[in-house]
Amino acid sequence: MTIQTVAIIGAGQMGRGIAETCAVHGKSVVLVDQNQDSLATAKTVIAENLARDVKKDRLSAKQSKKIQQAIVFTAKLEDIVPADLLIEAVNENESSKKSVLRACQEHLRDDALMASNTSSISITRLAAVSKKPDQFIGLHFMNPVPKMQLVEMIRGLQTSDTTFEVTQDFILGLGKTIALSEDFPAFIVNRILIPMINEAILTLYEGVGNVENIDKAMKLGAKHPMGPLELADYIGLDTVLAILNTLHEGLADQKYRPCPLLNRYVEAGWLGRKVGRGFYDYSSNPPKPTR
Ligand code: CAA
Repeated sequence: MTIQTVAIIGAGQMGRGIAETCAVHGKSVVLVDQNQDSLATAKTVIAENLARDVKKDRLSAKQSKKIQQAIVFTAKLEDIVPADLLIEAVNENESSKKSVLRACQEHLRDDALMASNTSSISITRLAAVSKKPDQFIGLHFMNPVPKMQLVEMIRGLQTSDTTFEVTQDFILGLGKTIALSEDFPAFIVNRILIPMINEAILTLYEGVGNVENIDKAMKLGAKHPMGPLELADYIGLDTVLAILNTLHEGLADQKYRPCPLLNRYVEAGWLGRKVGRGFYDYSSNPPKPTR
């Protein structure tokens, strides 16, 4: 089996990035979201990204048009019927993911594979809601998907060799490089990255440095492309908190305890770039540090 048609559930920053990458690599894509605004934003962002590639002579206008036509933007779950592979990319919330997965399998073919783009939740546990846990796998893309080289692959306890091999070929066909992770909370990237971001927030909370100095220190002192607070805003502070909670509960170690300041920002709705405010205020250009 080869994957030709991909259904993606959730048109947020991960879902739309996965959709764009799949379409650029010749796949037919069905991008599903119940929220029409999310679908409209996804369509616009993908068109803008492709327009940049046309401007830089990496794509012709004709190719860009063909890629956009390869994506069906829809609010109807029944449109996923032709999919060879379903990728769930909804919020990092276990019960939301499980209910979406349950609803999807009612519409999928028997031989279709299912994947979750979860950044932290157990693949074995998510697979358990599927009627075919052997056809379920973790495919963790990085943000921004069209630019980032890596995809983490995570096998659940029951994932079959065939499911692994077919999805591995699919990911390699998208031009990505694979890192294999065992099914532990937050896998490899986020097990290391998210505690580092939490430490940056603690460094801010304790007054060791302000936002500007913490980000400058890590960009210029450790050669990170983005400072940890800028990156937290980029990922979304709700997602950062959800991953920390999964690490804290799953590994039962105090070192993963979320910084109280992070909890407070999430409670305030200051979720980062997607809402216009987090550790930076994005209403001005360049964004202004808020502490
Ligand atoms: N979508 C698509 N392409 C994008 C993009 C986006 N949202 N943002 C930037 N780019 C592209 C630009 O078009 C540009 O492409 P070319 O050079 O090929 O023309 C390239 O990326 C560089 O962009 P810029 O010059 O505007 O900006 P930059 O040099 O600062 O790079 C960045 C932007 C690629 C995002 C870079 O800052 C970076 O690598 N940051 C770190 C990102 C990171 O760590 N991601 C992982 C997050 S963790 C995660 O995803 C896992 C999780 O579960 C939480």
